[in-house]
Amino acid sequence: MSTKTVHKGLTGVVVDTTGISMVNPETNSLTYRGYPVQDLAAHCRFEEVAHLLWHGELPTPAQLAEQNAVERAHRELPADLVSTLLHLPATAHPMDTLRTAVSILGANDPHEDENSPEANHAKALRLFGALPSIVALTQRRRRGLLPLPPRLDLGFAENFLAMTFGAVPEPEVVRAFEISLVLYAEHSFNASTFTSRVVTSTLSDLYSAITAAIGALKGPLHGGANEAVMAAFEEIGTADRAQEWVARALAAKRTIMGFGHRVYKNGDSRVPTMRAALRTVAELRDGQRLLDLYESLAGAVFAAKGLHPNLDYPAGPAYHLMGFDTPVFTPIFVAARITGWTAHITEQLAANSLIRPSSLYTGSAQREFIA
Ligand code: SDX
Repeated sequence: MSTKTVHKGLTGVVVDTTGISMVNPETNSLTYRGYPVQDLAAHCRFEEVAHLLWHGELPTPAQLAEQNAVERAHRELPADLVSTLLHLPATAHPMDTLRTAVSILGANDPHEDENSPEANHAKALRLFGALPSIVALTQRRRRGLLPLPPRLDLGFAENFLAMTFGAVPEPEVVRAFEISLVLYAEHSFNASTFTSRVVTSTLSDLYSAITAAIGALKGPLHGGANEAVMAAFEEIGTADRAQEWVARALAAKRTIMGFGHRVYKNGDSRVPTMRAALRTVAELRDGQRLLDLYESLAGAVFAAKGLHPNLDYPAGPAYHLMGFDTPVFTPIFVAARITGWTAHITEQLAANSLIRPSSLYTGSAQREFIA
């Protein structure tokens, strides 16, 4: 009889230390480098939060200007990357396009296999600048539109939206979008971040770690939930149908996307901030029907199962009202989480140990081989 204990899904297992963010389920709080995420969302540009995650401190004006200059220089995608992306099937899922794009950027980087903190920070900034351009290209292509050049006079969020939709939207919409980026930026040892740390622990390269993380984020139990939320909204249609829909879904043992969380059992600390951002966008973009459905579904799920929404629940409808197609929601999450992933890759390398757990064998007993 084995004395090994199995920790299915690694629930509750503490695998390493981190100084990047802290989730406290008891107080429903989340801090990035010590700062409450709600305060960062209310007061900071996304670029400042990126600096905080990477360097441990908010930037001085000079540090921010230097970081912005490098990020902006990477917004223009290499011509061969654009041409390869335009040869992928237009029906490819945007997460597959993004995963492929990061892989191509890695193959074209002569410093791909350099793992010094400086080399990896340069790669992080390269991806930080390029990802919005890739997401915007993918969104435009879905609508038969050609990619637009980046706007170097604009900040990260404004440029992202301008490259996608051809103009900078209302300031309130830009703010709501930026808030979503800040909230999505980092969340300790979630599945995709852990994936990036596992790949990094083998001393592989940053692009490989990020392609793997994108693969992990795509799944609907993780980042893909923001797309699945929209699919549920479309299936339900109107607020008055939510209760009956929930009863049928639970009777059929369906998972209701956008609800529940491995760590937060009493509500996701990011939801109130994103819900307020969703309300702002809904008021500007004729979103009352969606807002009613949002409240009605949340109430029905809580009443039936005691489950709270997670960040993907308000983010999905907010991105819809901003004008994004549903399959582009998780790629936006990638463009934000690249900051957290790359901060974790640097942290992993600073005190690396190969991540290689054990298992409890339950297969056939040893038997004689007969040729
Ligand atoms: C993200 O880790 C992170 O930090 C992730 C993230 C980040 O910032 O990186 O926050 C982003 O990925 C958010 C989660 C997005 N996923 C979803 O919205 C998918 C739907 N949610 C679930 O499938 C589920 O809640 C998980 C996967 C998120 C968490 O699951 P756990 O911790 O493994 O809990 P569980 O599946 O064991 O559930 C416990 C009970 C079960 O019921 P019983 O068997 O005890 O009766 O709750 C039920 C589950 O069936 N349950 C749900 C449910 N979530 C939990 N039932 C129906 N619908 C749900 N959404």
